[in-house]
Amino acid sequence: MLLIFPDISTISDYVSSELIRKIRRKPELVLGAATGGTMEPIYARFVEQARQQRLDVSKLVSFNLDEYVGLEPDHPKSYFAYMQEHLFKHLGFDASRHHLPDGLAKDLTGHCRAYSAKVRERGGIDLQLLGVGGNGHIGFNEPGTAFDSRCHVVQLTERTRKDNSRFFAKNAIVPASAITMGLQDIMEAREILLIATGVNKARIMAEYYENDITEAIPFTILKRHPRVKIVLDEAAASELPGSVRQPLAARYG
Ligand code: F6R
Repeated sequence: MLLIFPDISTISDYVSSELIRKIRRKPELVLGAATGGTMEPIYARFVEQARQQRLDVSKLVSFNLDEYVGLEPDHPKSYFAYMQEHLFKHLGFDASRHHLPDGLAKDLTGHCRAYSAKVRERGGIDLQLLGVGGNGHIGFNEPGTAFDSRCHVVQLTERTRKDNSRFFAKNAIVPASAITMGLQDIMEAREILLIATGVNKARIMAEYYENDITEAIPFTILKRHPRVKIVLDEAAASELPGSVRQPLAARYG
């Protein structure tokens, strides 16, 4: 299902309300969390609405998609620090229920195996939030990643390091590798919400609809998922083929 909203503000309202509705229905919801610029306004809106509505998040469980290898958790650019900053600290999350891969693990391969296993032990992901990279990556599953991949260590492409350099200080070095949940892990989520905003995502979103399922564009695997919603703002939808937009226009009037 494809939903197109005017802007990031209306997307944030929608995603935040969806999250709240699902947590009310199932307080022990297992959330697959993403980081990145796309999610920042969404988490901000969720924090605001959850406070206003006194939402009980004490039973919520989360698993993040990824973490850089080699960054201390309290490094300001680690995804652990991102989650603290944008979500955990605001709602008093209990750390034992909220999981991120450990980029400092001595045995990274063993840690990855244990991370995928822990998701399954917790009953699997109920709702997976996803952003998408300009090259079609989800999590840090870069083009060419096998569709049957599990949590693994990945060498980041130059493009991803360049895209993410905007989050780091001017001359800081963006880590060369990361741990990411695999495409198979992501596909096992019961429901998926992929969000893309801004004109920088317009080309890759058009490619999603123009191409068949291919490992060269990792997120095309989502076409095989029975419950995936793609949520775009007008800018990210601006290059979609007419054949995708026209039936929508008919549906939404
Ligand atoms: C982050 C993640 C990545 C981002 C993607 C888009 O946890 O898994 O796949 O979602 O790189 O990043 P932004 O939102 O910064 O454009």
